[in-house]
Amino acid sequence: MQADLIIQNATLSDGRTGQDIVIAHGIVQAIGPGIDAAAHEVIDAEGRLVTPPFVDCHFHMDATLSLGLPRLNQSGTLLEGIALWGELKPLLTHEAVIERALAYCDIAVAQGIGAIRSHVDVCDDRLLGVEALLEVKRQVAPYLDLQLVAFPQDGLYRSPTARENLVRALDLGVEVVGGIPHFERTMEDGRRSVVDLVAIAAERGLMVDLHCDETDDPNSRHIETLAAETQRLGMAGRVAGSHLTSMHGMDNYYVAKLIPLIAEAGVAAIANPLINIAIQGRHDSYPKRRGLTRIAELEAAGVPVAFGHDCVMDPWYSLGSGDMLEVAHMAIHAAHLTSQDAMRSTFAAVTTVPAAILGLEGYGLAPGNPAHLVLLDASDPIEAIRLKANRLAVVRHGAIVARTPPRLAELDLEGRPREVSLRRQRAAS
Ligand code: FE2
Repeated sequence: MQADLIIQNATLSDGRTGQDIVIAHGIVQAIGPGIDAAAHEVIDAEGRLVTPPFVDCHFHMDATLSLGLPRLNQSGTLLEGIALWGELKPLLTHEAVIERALAYCDIAVAQGIGAIRSHVDVCDDRLLGVEALLEVKRQVAPYLDLQLVAFPQDGLYRSPTARENLVRALDLGVEVVGGIPHFERTMEDGRRSVVDLVAIAAERGLMVDLHCDETDDPNSRHIETLAAETQRLGMAGRVAGSHLTSMHGMDNYYVAKLIPLIAEAGVAAIANPLINIAIQGRHDSYPKRRGLTRIAELEAAGVPVAFGHDCVMDPWYSLGSGDMLEVAHMAIHAAHLTSQDAMRSTFAAVTTVPAAILGLEGYGLAPGNPAHLVLLDASDPIEAIRLKANRLAVVRHGAIVARTPPRLAELDLEGRPREVSLRRQRAAS
């Protein structure tokens, strides 16, 4: 067989080692040990990890890279972030939103991200963000899957034209229904918004992804309504609750009833570890809550749990670099996911689990699937997270679209090696 690209001696995220990956016509043709084939390009992975691309299932591409416009968030709270975004919105231009979003997509691709679900604010009557991100979606389609969520940032009912705008956005081609029930004026308005939004999605055959209970208030229980409505309307597998941070502070007795409902309803959970740890707990003195949802308990009940990056250099968060390994790293620390199995589950939470939530077709390293993959400078998923390993090669449709050299420091110490790598040093046999 004459292949376009062969990656030799790869380790896969399921633990298989010594694997050759043969790619032709943009498709994975074969995976296995010692495959005899010729190719235009051969990469020796030398035992390094080759993974399907990272998937970021919760992001805000209309706000990204806008840090400092028109000012910085002084308190660091969610509410000041929303107010600040409200100040920036009237100043946005179509061209500037596209330029920043494309710049972020460059970063994302370099970091090995192959798909992003981005919320887009629909509370601007011009639908400027929606039109800009639909254009970005078209432009990046060859190298990045961008899925858009119609997100009524200022409240479906709290903002007078939000509901009408949300429907307009769906008519324009935005494919997922969003919401923000905890930000509505009353608990009852929040509950009604959930019922309304799931019904809109069911009627149109769309998926749902609500910012749900992104608060420290343990009485914010909109996830209960979201799960019940998902079950009632037969929407299992098509609905996600993003953030769910109120679950952190909820009464354990109530949670013992709630988690089985979420599992039975087929609702997925999306945590945003970098943002949750930074934004939640701001009204606490000491102890300060960590604010992440109950990741381990949800997973143990069979609920799919994925992680999003949420923000990069925007009104809510000043940091971030499109690195889903950094996201997993934070989850391990903030949610005590330190066992070997738990750490591996955080790798799944930025790859396979969000791919399923987005409904990506042909995702994963298997013959017949599109050849989208990432070669990491690490031996396995846990080392990848530990080092936030460099993406040595990012492959899309069988072509290398990004390369980053390995990180090697040059040492100048008497009697010590000249070069030092942070990768685990194996004992010589
Ligand atoms: Fe968000």
